[in-house]
Amino acid sequence: MADPHVEPQVQVVDDAAWLARAAADLVSSVVHADGPVTVVPATGETPVGTYAELAARHARGALDTTRVSVVQLDEYLGLAADDRRTLFGWMDRTVLTPLAIDDGRVARLPTDGDVDGACAEFDRALAARGGIDLAILGLGTNGHLGFNEPPSDAASATRTVELTPDTIGANARYWGGEDDVPTRAVTLGLRTLLDARRILLLVSGASKHAIVRRALEGPVGEDVPASFVREARGSVTVLVDRAAWEGE
Ligand code: PGA
Repeated sequence: MADPHVEPQVQVVDDAAWLARAAADLVSSVVHADGPVTVVPATGETPVGTYAELAARHARGALDTTRVSVVQLDEYLGLAADDRRTLFGWMDRTVLTPLAIDDGRVARLPTDGDVDGACAEFDRALAARGGIDLAILGLGTNGHLGFNEPPSDAASATRTVELTPDTIGANARYWGGEDDVPTRAVTLGLRTLLDARRILLLVSGASKHAIVRRALEGPVGEDVPASFVREARGSVTVLVDRAAWEGE
């Protein structure tokens, strides 16, 4: 029998600043609960304010990160490991360094050699160490979670993917143009993400209005991968600002 699941808890907040504080409160409460915690921090613009708020709390001694481990959510293929345009590089600058999470507590996605074989091993190792406690996720305008592009099955494993034109267009701003955006990537699979004990989905801005409504109110299915949060195993909080919720 499937595990009983609880509907996502949707919290609408005034604006991106409120979203950052509310998200940081939730992350802090998970981090300060008993025992070590494994966190997946999404890249992208939406969670930047949350990470800045967490970094400020850490800097003033109000957030202890010594028991936090991090698992990378997604990565481009085809870049050198030390290229500052890797998503790992972004995560290092935006999350790991400000929160003093050292390399030994970070699981970096494979990008070399037999990537799919290494991804299967990555999933196995992650499950063996207890899976994800908290996945902090953003929402793509095409409904993706991580680089689980539509269509993505709820049972999809960590794997290589082809990026869709939507995602390439959305990321062109980081690359100086669409032609320079890598077209292949690796992502934690939906199965791994949906098994997390807690998911925090952050949604900000009017450009996300249509997709957040579709994900939470439309049919659940692989055309909108984020809709599967409604069938996640653990608890799901969706923090959405008014611009995204109301579309104005
Ligand atoms: P964004 O990206 O936070 O930059 O809007 C979200 C995503 O594509 O997952």
